[in-house]
Amino acid sequence: MEQFVLDAVERITTRPKTVYETIAIDPVTPIVGAEISGVDLSKELSDQQLEDIRRAFLEHHVLVFRDQLLSAEDHKRFAAHFGELRPLPVAVPEGRDPVVLEISATKDSTDVDGHGWHADGTSNPELALGSMLYITRTPEIGSGGDTMFANMHLAYEMLSPTMRTLLDGLTAIHDDAVAWQGHTPPEGYVLPKNEHPVVVRHPETGRKLLFVNPAYTSHIVQLSVDESKALLGMLFDLVARTPMLSCRVRWAPNTLVFWDNRCVQHHAIWDYYPHARYGQRVAIKGQRPQA
Ligand code: SIN
Repeated sequence: MEQFVLDAVERITTRPKTVYETIAIDPVTPIVGAEISGVDLSKELSDQQLEDIRRAFLEHHVLVFRDQLLSAEDHKRFAAHFGELRPLPVAVPEGRDPVVLEISATKDSTDVDGHGWHADGTSNPELALGSMLYITRTPEIGSGGDTMFANMHLAYEMLSPTMRTLLDGLTAIHDDAVAWQGHTPPEGYVLPKNEHPVVVRHPETGRKLLFVNPAYTSHIVQLSVDESKALLGMLFDLVARTPMLSCRVRWAPNTLVFWDNRCVQHHAIWDYYPHARYGQRVAIKGQRPQA
């Protein structure tokens, strides 16, 4: 492995251990993800608990809370501690909550949400700060339906300094038409399309990260069609072929996962057809990605 890759990993694995007063942390990998215990999300949380969760979120990027018995109101109340809730981009049927996305797969599904590497909604001008998915039903065969999460800071840092310098000056188009390919969007839905830097900074930590994904990114503005295709292909492959970048969360009913949509990509694995999986997701408003 190149020295700059080892250096990037070492910066993560040797950082000082954070002391948390009110929660216990069990990292899923040294690179991304942590199981959090000692907190009941159905109860009002203390300032210190919220502060600890915020710090763990910035440090581990993906937090897994198990054995949580939550109503939709509990779920939304917890999410609202981190910002305003983001309405769904499409109109919801009468009587359904406009901020709660149902994540559902059954024997009748022909596709599922998030089956491919992506960050949520990058074709929009503003990016969701994070999403909270609460899974209440997992496939009855006892396994399947895991979700993978990749650390996009490390993805950037694993590139050679020369490649990073090239990418630092580029922008890319994120187009909902890419995500809807092969599907018909709901009537009246205007597909968002926006230009974002290829490398952005996390708005809270200031750390750089690679900000392109195969679900939404159509092309790099400053390159020829062939150059853009080759470069994006290489960057998409980096996530797909580098297991070290990602963790895999195995769900059990009543697990809530909160991921930082600004610096991780995720991939829902649909390996359980025709069995069923069900959950609800809320997202928190964020800001426009900045270089
Ligand atoms: C998604 O938010 O992309 C779906 C994630 C999942 O179902 O695990």
